[in-house]
Amino acid sequence: MTTPVRKVALLGAGVIGAGWAARLIENGIDVAIADPDPEVRRKTETVLANAERALRRLFPDEPDRRGMVVFSESVEDAVDGADFVQESAPEREDLKRGLLARAAAVAPAGVIVATSTSGLLPSVLQADCRFPERVVVGHPFNPVYLLPLVEVCGGKSTSAETIEAASAFYASIGMHPLVVRNEIDGFIADRLLEALWREALHLVNDGVATTEEIDRAVCYGAGLRWAFMGTFGIYRLAGGEAGMRHFMAQFGPALKLPWTKLEAPELTDELIDRVSEQTEQQAAGRSVREMERTRDDALVAILQALESQGIGAGIEVARWRETRSQ
Ligand SMILES: NC(=O)c1ccc[n+]([C@@H]2O[C@H](COP(=O)([O-])OP(=O)(O)OC[C@H]3O[C@@H](n4cnc5c(N)ncnc54)[C@H](O)[C@@H]3O)[C@@H](O)[C@H]2O)c1
Repeated sequence: MTTPVRKVALLGAGVIGAGWAARLIENGIDVAIADPDPEVRRKTETVLANAERALRRLFPDEPDRRGMVVFSESVEDAVDGADFVQESAPEREDLKRGLLARAAAVAPAGVIVATSTSGLLPSVLQADCRFPERVVVGHPFNPVYLLPLVEVCGGKSTSAETIEAASAFYASIGMHPLVVRNEIDGFIADRLLEALWREALHLVNDGVATTEEIDRAVCYGAGLRWAFMGTFGIYRLAGGEAGMRHFMAQFGPALKLPWTKLEAPELTDELIDRVSEQTEQQAAGRSVREMERTRDDALVAILQALESQGIGAGIEVARWRETRSQ
């Protein structure tokens, strides 16, 4: 990989691409954005403003140098002079394959071309690229500028050096690379999220609970502890002094009961309307940008608490803080 990374080409600057822009410029890295949306500048600037507000709360000191943002006319223009490419276009295989191939066609030797895909297989996405060995998945989480996790997954042709170099780059910008060693649809994190999402949709579809009640079921309980221990760590404690074996003996039989459906419900117009209307009610007139600020303030407070406890994502924030001061 070209090191140090001074400029990153961002292909697509929606929710995720703009989030990457915010994290990268905070680390002093310039970004060149290629996105055909005529409103891309306005939308990106709104995300950058929210991100700047959140990052000043997390790191009250300004970085020595903030990176610059430029908007390019084409993929080729954006990739010109870039040391790393991060594609975050809509989750469509044909579109992504085309964009990655165009980027790889003009990227100089050594440049890694990464995709933010949530679950498409890298072996498929890299298939048309001039140098498939340097194409890799770097799957982040929203908001990219605050959440450290990035799943790194190679396809059949990705080299071990690319996985290592991409992981090192992400770590250098305060992220926590989790290498997904086996290429699977949905990787690790989205498989877990998808399972919960399917059950939540069933509960709404069957009229068991509203979206607000389901969100309370997460926020007031498991969501709090997931921030620092995860499912296995927490369940080991749920077994008491006898630990995981006792937990599994006690709750194992329930696994065989049909508590969960896991098969996705049909996304009927009725279900889409119900979920959309109920989540609008939950928003109570607040705009998405306002709610993002509420989310960011809470995330910053949680990250600070985790940092003070030296646990979970707080370890990564402490490392990022140290890197920033060097
Ligand atoms: N939203 C999430 O929570 C999330 C989390 C992790 C990963 N992802 C992944 O990130 C990617 C982007 O998702 P998103 O939520 O930001 O979508 P989005 O719809 O918010 O943004 C997509 C952007 O891509 C742009 N675009 C469309 N065609 C393009 C082209 N030919 N070249 C360049 N840009 C183009 C659009 O104008 C838009 O701004 C997807 O692969 C998605 O799976 C999303």
